[in-house]
Amino acid sequence: MTKAEKLAILDTKNAEALLGGGAGRIEAQHKKGKLTARERVELLLDLGSFEEIGKFVMHRCKDFGLDKEYYLGDGVVTGYGTVNGRLVYVFSQDFTVFGGSLSETHAEKICKIMDLAMKNGAPIIGLNDSGGARIQEGVMSLGGYADIFYRNTRASGVIPQISAVMGPCAGGAVYSPAITDFIFMVENTSYMFVTGPNVVKTVTHEEVTSEELGGASTHSTKSGVTHFSCANELACINEIKQLLSFIPQNCEDEAPFLPYQSDGNELRPALNDILPENPNQPYDMREVIYGIIDEGESGVPPNGFQEVHKNFADNILVGFARIGGRSIGIVGNQPAVLAGVLDINSSVKAARFIRFCDSFNIPLLVLVDVPGFLPGTDQEWHGIITNGAKLLYAFCEATVPRVTVITRKAYGGAYDVMNSKHIGADMNFAWHSAEIAVMGAKGAAEIIFKKEISEAENPEAKLQEKVDEYTHKFATPYRAAHRGFVDEVITPDMTRKKLISAFKMLENKVDTLPRKKHGNIPL
Ligand code: HXC
Repeated sequence: MTKAEKLAILDTKNAEALLGGGAGRIEAQHKKGKLTARERVELLLDLGSFEEIGKFVMHRCKDFGLDKEYYLGDGVVTGYGTVNGRLVYVFSQDFTVFGGSLSETHAEKICKIMDLAMKNGAPIIGLNDSGGARIQEGVMSLGGYADIFYRNTRASGVIPQISAVMGPCAGGAVYSPAITDFIFMVENTSYMFVTGPNVVKTVTHEEVTSEELGGASTHSTKSGVTHFSCANELACINEIKQLLSFIPQNCEDEAPFLPYQSDGNELRPALNDILPENPNQPYDMREVIYGIIDEGESGVPPNGFQEVHKNFADNILVGFARIGGRSIGIVGNQPAVLAGVLDINSSVKAARFIRFCDSFNIPLLVLVDVPGFLPGTDQEWHGIITNGAKLLYAFCEATVPRVTVITRKAYGGAYDVMNSKHIGADMNFAWHSAEIAVMGAKGAAEIIFKKEISEAENPEAKLQEKVDEYTHKFATPYRAAHRGFVDEVITPDMTRKKLISAFKMLENKVDTLPRKKHGNIPL
């Protein structure tokens, strides 16, 4: 064979690999409003940075006619490249090849780059578009899934793992994303379920569409399975890049720090106007967040806050932002929804976020306005005790710098849970409007002065007198400040200045947990 002929073989194979399942199937993919696996990788990575690994890999299956049907790459594009100059590993499933289904060799390719990501300490991003286990391969593909799940779990807390679901994700295809740190879904073209609508109909007699059962809307609002729901694939990839900008390469690394030049005046007077006059009126904690954090620049989320789990359990807010250039994770009660009460979903949502931040050295800012835990049979029977304990556990266990600002209410057990000094917070601020007590003044007065009120000539006036007395004594930040449970009582406009200073002071914090194999979080 001549040199030219050898080169021609390589060129032909390269061209063949680029075509995946063929021009017809690529067209069908585009018609569904979906990009191909390679187009997605191109969009995600810095121009020209992608280096492919395993481009010519083929499956080994000989059953059900597969000995006559081969595609170079076997339905997944794998490799590495950079996002804004930082190394990432990526796999992108190719729906045009056997519906992106996972064969033994397809799984081997994913495992190979997962191993490289672990050894080299860089995030791994999976772009999923798969019909699940390659049915023709039987247990070989099940084994391939298990190899991936095992690596996902080993990598958890070592390198960030991000999953985007950009098509069907059925059967085994859902469990790898579920173990990773963040799931992104694309609206209308992606879905995730363990068993599809047909099986559901057979087993439970429920009639449900794929979208209803496991679309982006369902998983971003009802189940909380997905952290981000994106309007289209481009928006999804851009949000992944934003997220990467806040997080470090691995658990030994620090989050990227943006150069920050203070203008010398960090006061934000607008913060003074957010709280309503009446302490029972709602307000949007996002306004507080926007008032505190660095303002958005081009390429960062609107207002500088990348909210995670935006439409799920929205009585609590979690997300990433920067303060003085420093990446932080924010957890905030949301008084605009259910008065910011803690319930099962909000506890689990926040606990998972806190554990991510703690795994990856991202300091935590906690904004507190919480009337307590939600009472009721629904919550008790579904385990608010165990689930609320997850939040408590996550805070107690976190060793990253932790700063709290109580804006208004911090009542009952929720005061303890929301990053109080007692469970390891480093700096605790309270606005002068804060109310820190066992419960609201009316409830408290009704209990402790029950007899006095009922025996009074005018019980209503007596109740009001006792409410005023309790409010004056306890519904303030000063009892807590006298004890040192609150380090400083501040006016809202000072918050940003104080936080920049506190996080800088804490930047070299070292705290370790007692020696153990691992803790036993109440799952
Ligand atoms: C092999 C598959 C496949 C699979 C799809 N294809 N899924 N090939 N194994 N799992 C092939 C189809 O034969 C077809 O080939 C091409 O991919 C596109 O599929 P279509 O059905 O034409 O596409 P669409 O209508 O968009 O439907 C996509 C789909 C559907 C919803 C994913 O294909 C589907 O339901 N597939 C089966 C899903 C499933 O039950 N998977 C196994 C789960 S069990 P051609 O040649 O026509 O292009 C599992 C166990 C793991 O995963 C458990 C681990 C814990």
